[in-house]
Amino acid sequence: MKTIDELIQGGVEGKRIFVRADLNVPLDGTAITDDGRIRAVVPTVSALAEAGAKVIVASHLGRPKGAPDPRFSLAPAAARLGELLGKNVSFATDTVGDSAKATVAALANGEVTLLENLRFNAGETSKDDAERGAFADRLAELADLYVGDGFGAVHRKHASVFDLPARLPHAAGYLIATEVGVLKKLTAEAKRPYAVVLGGAKVSDKLGVIDHLLEKADRILIGGGMAYTFLKAQGYEVGISLLQEDQIPTVQGYLRRAEERGVEFVLPTDVLVAGEFPDLKTKAPAHPTTVAADAIPADQEGLDIGPETRKLYASKLADAATVFWNGPMGVFEHPDYAEGTKAVAQALLDSPAFTVIGGGDSAAAVRLLGFDENAFGHISTGGGASLEYLEGKTLPGLAALED
Ligand code: 3PG
Repeated sequence: MKTIDELIQGGVEGKRIFVRADLNVPLDGTAITDDGRIRAVVPTVSALAEAGAKVIVASHLGRPKGAPDPRFSLAPAAARLGELLGKNVSFATDTVGDSAKATVAALANGEVTLLENLRFNAGETSKDDAERGAFADRLAELADLYVGDGFGAVHRKHASVFDLPARLPHAAGYLIATEVGVLKKLTAEAKRPYAVVLGGAKVSDKLGVIDHLLEKADRILIGGGMAYTFLKAQGYEVGISLLQEDQIPTVQGYLRRAEERGVEFVLPTDVLVAGEFPDLKTKAPAHPTTVAADAIPADQEGLDIGPETRKLYASKLADAATVFWNGPMGVFEHPDYAEGTKAVAQALLDSPAFTVIGGGDSAAAVRLLGFDENAFGHISTGGGASLEYLEGKTLPGLAALED
């Protein structure tokens, strides 16, 4: 994989460079609530700009349906990128249309522009190779070189991620190089004991990675909404908690395999429950109660791990040498259900282990809960991408950057 430094050494002054970033940031209206992904691409963009390139940044945001939708505009990201770079970032109101062409043509050496959301064009995500290829052809007309730096999207076989680098000389940006370097340490070279904490709502999103980690990890700690499918699989009643009934046989298979292989599978022993989901807008007090994991009342739902589980999980992380964490332990967006997620974050900070936080909600959670993100080993910008990497899958956006 060619690095961005090699590209720069080859001379990029005056060259139009398409940088595929992942600026898929959470928005509240037009306000960016976590700018981590924008900050992550700044080193690549500023290095290229400083070397005199004309930098064309492009990304997706959310999941619009292949047509313009103002709710998913990248305009707020252009403003934030400009603030972070300390220079104006112009904004094209389309991806391959008149605005994009004019904005790119107007770029002077060292200037930066951001295109509108790539997913406003159906060709970006199309399953049809020809349709994707046609969109990639039009994107390729805008640029001379391609830099892949949208780590959060490398698991997507999309036009700007997979097809475009085949059409232009390409290199990997600093973010992709760092992310891949870190995740490699969790696969072949993981130091033991290797503990994995998995949370989040759906167990079905994590099946592939659990399957794979059963061969690699020493301990797997489960929290979040997915924990209730595991508790049910152990024969406990879970009230009105999130449950994926159809996954129970698979989960039981994992529990059996873990036992055979000597992998410690740790489930919550107590949980916070309430009769209704909390109001995340008003954050009105939710008044949860703590119950044992095998005594969830029929009319209550589990919304966070309990205090005994927090201690248990912290103890299981204390002597680990490597920790990977993906997914919150509860509804951390509400203060009454944030303690479980906070406890895991704190345990990671207290542990001497090499720690990796795998993207998405858990990365946003540590920032929103006020932790200093620089104190953690590595916070990945890719949720799904880091999980698929750990599953051992070939990621289209990485394969496309190989020569
Ligand atoms: C993410 O948020 O994980 C990436 O930006 C990819 O987004 P997607 O799941 O909508 O493809």
